[in-house]
Amino acid sequence: MDKDLASIVLTEEQITQKVNAAAAWLDERFKDALTPPLAISVLKGSVFFFCDVVRAMKTKTQIDFMTVSSYGNSAETSGVPKIVMDLSASVHGRDVILIEDIVDSGHTLVRMKDLIIGRGAKSFTVVALFDKPARRQVDIKADYSCFETGDEFLVGYGLDYAQQYRTLPYVGILKREIYEK
Ligand code: IMP
Ligand code: MG
Repeated sequence: MDKDLASIVLTEEQITQKVNAAAAWLDERFKDALTPPLAISVLKGSVFFFCDVVRAMKTKTQIDFMTVSSYGNSAETSGVPKIVMDLSASVHGRDVILIEDIVDSGHTLVRMKDLIIGRGAKSFTVVALFDKPARRQVDIKADYSCFETGDEFLVGYGLDYAQQYRTLPYVGILKREIYEK
C-alpha cells in the first residue's frame, strides 16, 4: 500500500467485481436499445473505471470524453464545475451513459445533466463508482453507484489529490495529514 494512505477501500479484485456488476446493470437497462448508447467519461477521475465498464458490457457503446474540473489543488469543491474539454460527439437524440468517479457535493452532476439534457439527449443514465450521500449540497443522485462512502478523501484508480495517486490500481483513504497540512 502507498505510504500516504491510511487504508484500502477497494482492492483490485473488489474493483473487478464492482465493474462487472455495473456493466451487467447497464446491459440489462439497454438490452432493447436500437442504437448504441453514447458512454461518456468525466475526466480525469473516471478514466480507468470508464474503460473497464465499457469493455465489460455486452452492449456495444460509442465512447466520448469530457474534462470537468471543480477542485484546483484542494480537497474541497469550488462549487462551480468548469468544462475544460467538451465532447466531440453530438448527444442529440442519443441514450447517454455518464460514467463518474464520485458523486460528492453533486454540483458536477447537476452541471453535466443540465448540459446533456439541454443538448437534446434522449435519455441520461449516470453510473458512479462512489457515492458520498452525506456530502450532497444539491438534490441529485446517480442511477447506479457501486459503493457508498463517508467523507474520507479517496485516491487511486483514477482519483487524485492535486493530480497525484491516480495510477494506483486500488482505491484508498488518503491520510488527513497529507491534505490538511
Ligand atoms: P462534486 O461536484 O462535489 O460532486 O464533485 C465530484 C468530483 O469531485 C468527483 O467527480 C471527483 O472528481 C472529485 N472528488 C470528490 N470526492 C473526491 C475524493 O474523495 N477523492 C478524489 N476526488 C474526489
Ligand atoms: Mg470527477
